Amino acid sequence: MTLGSDAPLKGKSVLVTGATGGLGQAIVSRCLAGGATVFAGGRNEAKLTQLAKSWGEKVVPLIYDVTDERAVKETFRQIQKQQMQTGIGPLWGMVNNAGLMFEAPLSISSLDKFKEQLNVNLLAPYQHMQLAARLMSRQRKGSIVNIVSQVGEHGSSGMSAYAATKAALTGVTKSLAKELAPIGIRVNAVAPGFIDTHLTEHYEEHAREAVVSRIAFQRAGMASEVANAVFYLLSDQASYTSGHVLPVDGIFSP
Ligand SMILES: NC(=O)c1ccc[n+]([C@@H]2O[C@H](COP(=O)([O-])OP(=O)(O)OC[C@H]3O[C@@H](n4cnc5c(N)ncnc54)[C@H](OP(=O)(O)O)[C@@H]3O)[C@@H](O)[C@H]2O)c1
Repeated sequence: MTLGSDAPLKGKSVLVTGATGGLGQAIVSRCLAGGATVFAGGRNEAKLTQLAKSWGEKVVPLIYDVTDERAVKETFRQIQKQQMQTGIGPLWGMVNNAGLMFEAPLSISSLDKFKEQLNVNLLAPYQHMQLAARLMSRQRKGSIVNIVSQVGEHGSSGMSAYAATKAALTGVTKSLAKELAPIGIRVNAVAPGFIDTHLTEHYEEHAREAVVSRIAFQRAGMASEVANAVFYLLSDQASYTSGHVLPVDGIFSP
């Protein structure tokens, strides 16, 4: 295979939020394997620094909280600076992956927890897309991928707040795909079902079995399977696809 087909993101850079999490780590690794330089965002300094060492020199760790508006602006300034000083390729990709999920029935759910999820799952991706689109518009090229959820599409008992944030991000994805198409930026989403990561590890065995029994493939998904879908949408292999939500769920009925 030639380098061209093997490394479709060669010479390009991608920002991945939530890079310390299960899906985030897999997405960073997939982008690196595909030739990209990766700006890896995370708020856990010790964990991100350790991961960055193992990923090597094509990863630039960026330590910040995605809900801190000023820190997000500063992060994009850093990205621009790094690109000018080190010759890292222009920002091609943005993966809004950082996310929070709190489960609670309506009767005992807390508005504070709802707001926390809104901030991380919806408002932060919105600000990231605004700043990423400004950079990408200079090249009139770019690809944004938002991690939503099959729960946002189908609903799930005890997850109304989480579902609302993800459904809203799906709406933003479809709208911005139309808005940014004339300037060459594609905006898509990946909607995982039940994937083995920190987010789902609190499920007790019986709860996990109940979920898996509703998956046609009869197993949880792997982070690498989600990362492959993200990578496809980031790359030019999806050059005629925008405003699409790609389920990666083994056919899940939440
Ligand atoms: N796993 C699933 O079954 C599943 C299904 C559907 C959708 N998703 C979505 O997939 C995405 C990744 O989830 P995951 O499964 O990989 O879960 P995870 O392992 O818990 O990772 C979540 C990541 O988001 C980061 N994060 C949360 N709040 C943040 C903040 N304020 N600032 C910066 N980073 C923040 C976490 O950082 P810390 O480690 O510092 O908290 C962590 O790196 C999320 O958007 C989630 O909703 C997951």
